[in-house]
Amino acid sequence: MKKTVSIWEATAQAGTSFPTLNGSKEADVVIIGGGISGLSTAMLLTEAGKKVILLEALQVGLGTTGNSTGNLYVTVDEHLSVIKKKWGADTMKAVVGSRTEALNLIEATIRKHDLDCNFYRTSFNYFAEGTDKEIDAFIKDETDALTECGVKVNTGTNPGLSFNVTNSISVEGQAQFHPLKYIRSLAGKLKDKCEIYENSQVIDFDEDKGIVKTKDGSVKAAHVIMATHTPKGVYMVQTVLGPYREHGVAAELLSGDMPQGIFWGMNKPKHSVRCFNDGDKKYVMVIGDMYKTGQGEDTNEYIKKLEEYLRFRFSIGAITHTWGGQQYRPADGLPYIGKHGDAMYFLTGFATDGLVYGTLAAMIVSDMILGRKNKWEDTYKLNRFTPLKSFKEFFKENADNFVQYLKDTPWNTDVDTLKEIPAGEGRVIEKHGEKLAVYKDEHGVNHVCSAVCTHMKCIVNWNPAEKTWDCPCHGSRFKTNGQVIEGPAVIDLPAKKF
Ligand SMILES: Cc1cc2nc3c(=O)[nH]c(=O)nc-3n(C[C@H](O)[C@H](O)[C@H](O)COP(=O)(O)OP(=O)(O)OC[C@H]3O[C@@H](n4cnc5c(N)ncnc54)[C@H](O)[C@@H]3O)c2cc1C
Ligand code: FES
Repeated sequence: MKKTVSIWEATAQAGTSFPTLNGSKEADVVIIGGGISGLSTAMLLTEAGKKVILLEALQVGLGTTGNSTGNLYVTVDEHLSVIKKKWGADTMKAVVGSRTEALNLIEATIRKHDLDCNFYRTSFNYFAEGTDKEIDAFIKDETDALTECGVKVNTGTNPGLSFNVTNSISVEGQAQFHPLKYIRSLAGKLKDKCEIYENSQVIDFDEDKGIVKTKDGSVKAAHVIMATHTPKGVYMVQTVLGPYREHGVAAELLSGDMPQGIFWGMNKPKHSVRCFNDGDKKYVMVIGDMYKTGQGEDTNEYIKKLEEYLRFRFSIGAITHTWGGQQYRPADGLPYIGKHGDAMYFLTGFATDGLVYGTLAAMIVSDMILGRKNKWEDTYKLNRFTPLKSFKEFFKENADNFVQYLKDTPWNTDVDTLKEIPAGEGRVIEKHGEKLAVYKDEHGVNHVCSAVCTHMKCIVNWNPAEKTWDCPCHGSRFKTNGQVIEGPAVIDLPAKKF
């Protein structure tokens, strides 16, 4: 039976149950966000003797980390040959060097704390299907780039896939794990060393005084770490981050095989394929075909196409799990990690590489807080301004945001009457000049909130596959009752009456 949760949530150990923050607290460091970035930072700082409080809006691991693919590798989604063209060979080598250290830290953490999370070393593979000169040229450039970074590669042969592959690159010594088991078991190991609070959404903060507030409590700390995937609030960095969504689809493999390993298909649209063994069940999953958040139109179509992708290549049963995840793509190809103002730290812009980059970000900011120079901090520094390296992407993202603002016009609504909204669907409708986001539940009851995003006032769009309101500007997402799920918005969409 299909479950609209990630395969990781369906197969992990029982969820965590940390208390909700209540009252005023003080700490050396407060971390907002319990994904891989936040938990890894908490681990490193508590190991160094700091008093740490971590606040998670939902449950630890259920942000993007628990909706990822669980692949750990030293290369990057932007491709090393592209990083070299934008930044030069030294930066490209620094990317591989820093990511190698972060991947090694994940493995060392698993070994040290005996974390049960299906970790193993395996290969990373790019593969091509059919003849495509552009992909052949990419494979040559990427092979050269990897080799220049000292990474040993094999090219050309089918890396063990059961369907026809025309070209490939394979790199040994990469890894895969179960991302949610990793986070939940790490949180379990940390619980006696740092205070973790769940269902404790930060709704306000004073950057200068180092105070963060939740509905029922507050924390004052010398350092505030924004490990929320993208910073909450309004910052310049949001103009250089493109929010994109991707879906994942998994099914049981009925016959034939799918080897362990990371497999990235290079034909467009791009896909990432892997298997996962859960007891005696073998699943195969595909993730990919990204689109700009809030602009996916009928998002169910993406799920359908992913199912077709799997059925065309594998003998599978019914689709068992479908899910979605968000990534923030940096305009110049590198994450933004570092200090903002006197007390705040940002860890963002990881694209689809953030299990390793999130761990690396934790290493960099914890060194900053501990007064140690981290040798990678300059590569990813926050205050870089890179017009030449990012102009095209910067222009694309911000021109697109401008188009979204223009959509906020009186004539731009989905429907004119409530009757036009099918049960189980949401539509934007206008009443007395006000844009309203109306969700009609399965029983025909309308749930109404403002359609104006609380971040910077773009109009949200309905995402039918995930039953959420998604903002097309900077990627904030809201539940049907208006509650913020992710993105830079801090405040929920206010409830309205129709
Ligand atoms: C489909 C998909 C597949 C991917 N696959 C891979 C992969 O195979 N390998 C890889 O390296 N990377 C992958 N990535 C990228 C990677 O998953 C992310 O970059 C990484 O998980 C980000 O971790 P994080 O801790 O920074 O953010 P998150 O995991 O999103 O954690 C942020 C946390 O902050 C919490 N939060 C937000 N707002 C507040 C608030 N106001 N108060 C308190 N808490 C708050 C959220 O609830 C969330 O739990 C993938 C991404 C996507 C979209
Ligand atoms: S996320 Fe910025 S306006 Fe909605």
